[in-house]
Amino acid sequence: MNKFLKPLILSILLLNHIQAVNAADLEAGAQVFSTNCAACHAGGNNAIMQDKTLKKDALETNNMNSISAITTQVKNGKNAMPAFGGRLANEDIDNVANYVLNQSEQCKEK
Ligand code: HEC
Repeated sequence: MNKFLKPLILSILLLNHIQAVNAADLEAGAQVFSTNCAACHAGGNNAIMQDKTLKKDALETNNMNSISAITTQVKNGKNAMPAFGGRLANEDIDNVANYVLNQSEQCKEK
């Protein structure tokens, strides 16, 4: 095999792999969300504090539009939002944070 072709094919394979992993994470995140978060955040809304939705604009305004901000809040809780640190595995928290951020980017209208 040509010495340029081989690294090219390997990187394509690697990219495909990364995409597959991402898709699985979002699906797992959706599960975690419906079990643990939807009670207060159905449809990306907030049943307790109406301004603190999971929608793009609100996340931006409240500086919550990053994986690290969401993970921190899910682990530690904030005011009326319970802490999930002791209840969910780090992997679940990562997945649900990715899911929330990804969803917020898909419904940009609000
Ligand atoms: C008992 C209700 C409740 C549950 C369950 C809950 N939250 Fe929250 N969530 C809140 C409240 C209340 C706030 C606003 C906290 C504040 O800033 O005072 C909030 C805020 C947030 C924010 C920041 C939103 C913003 O615009 O600032 C994110 C992100 C979030 N929650 C994600 C989650 C995730 C992910 C889960 C599930 C693992 C979850 N929440 C479960 C009540 C809840």
